[in-house]
Amino acid sequence: MKYKTAIVGVTGIVGQQAIVALNNHPQFDLISFAASERSAGKTYRQAIETNGIVGWYADDPMPEEINNIKVQDAGKLDPSDYDIIFSCVDADVARELEPKFAKHCAVISTASAFRYDNDVPLIIPPVNPEQVSLIEKQRKTRNWKGFIAPIPNCTTTGLAITLKPLDQFGIESVIMTSLQAVSGAGRSPGVRALDIIDNVIPYIVGEEEKVEKEAQKILNKKFDISCTCTRVPVLNGHTESVFVQLKKPATIEQAEKAFSNFSSSVKTHSTPKQVIKVFSDPSRPQPRLDRETGNGLTTCVGRIRSDPVLGLKYVLVSHNSKMGAAAGAVWLAELLEQRGYI
Ligand SMILES: NC(=O)c1ccc[n+]([C@@H]2O[C@H](COP(=O)([O-])OP(=O)(O)OC[C@H]3O[C@@H](n4cnc5c(N)ncnc54)[C@H](OP(=O)(O)O)[C@@H]3O)[C@@H](O)[C@H]2O)c1
Repeated sequence: MKYKTAIVGVTGIVGQQAIVALNNHPQFDLISFAASERSAGKTYRQAIETNGIVGWYADDPMPEEINNIKVQDAGKLDPSDYDIIFSCVDADVARELEPKFAKHCAVISTASAFRYDNDVPLIIPPVNPEQVSLIEKQRKTRNWKGFIAPIPNCTTTGLAITLKPLDQFGIESVIMTSLQAVSGAGRSPGVRALDIIDNVIPYIVGEEEKVEKEAQKILNKKFDISCTCTRVPVLNGHTESVFVQLKKPATIEQAEKAFSNFSSSVKTHSTPKQVIKVFSDPSRPQPRLDRETGNGLTTCVGRIRSDPVLGLKYVLVSHNSKMGAAAGAVWLAELLEQRGYI
């Protein structure tokens, strides 16, 4: 038996990637689509079409069979009809809708609304699956049949995945500068072409604070961390330049080995062959060439060098709307199903 599944925010960038990640999924049966009142009552095709132009943003083709599925008003969705809801809406909408859903069923969220609550886990399956136990606390304190399990911000994901194998040397401090893709800003309002073409925007509202807080919650430890988040004219795939100070300094070879040997103890349908792929070519990783590695679930690392200031530095690329959003959310759902929470 497959789990009855709905996507809320199904017309957006992450919602579309969720359709791709759930298409023909062996465990989750995608039976309902929901979005705002603007889309409610339309077919999926009508909801994403403007003047005949189809707003499908995923690289993978849109499955034909979804053209005529009716989009429901998320505010009127009956959560007791589902085992699991993937919530792919902005934080203000999530804050209102997700608790209503979680009273009845599992909610996997890509929004930030509940990420920082003490009884809410913030899990990346290969990094900190042990946080699943917070769900019991959440259910008890909130008296919910279901729960909310958010994934981290898309910029946090690649950083936390690469810091985890380095933690055997003890993370002391981290400096990270990101070069983030435009799709990370979503479709509405998104980033205007006029602002981003031929340009770099050195500020993303709230992003640096999110990454700094989330990395420490995921790794369950306090360390000094300072980030600068920028937006660049790349479609998909966040690039990050990371500097790390370790308690016990690691050689380049030790760091390389730690990244390459890092494997996921969580083995599910989505688990990629490699959690981290290390490049020796000094011109890699690049978002255009490397973001789809492992179906967009592998974090690509290169330019591992020693650093005269903090000790170690490297560059990573992580697919923001796959591993950093929808595909990462589906991987988390698989972990929660395996552990008996769904
Ligand atoms: N983009 C990324 O790479 C990325 C990565 C990680 C996390 N996230 C997070 O994921 C969430 C979705 O991001 P996105 O980039 O997919 O945004 P988006 O492209 O702007 O899509 C937003 C979705 O929310 C729906 N929506 C808006 N108001 C609603 C309401 N009142 N009730 C129900 N649905 C409503 C929209 O439906 P209509 O079409 O009907 O307006 C649309 O489906 C955000 O919290 C974002 O921070 C995004």
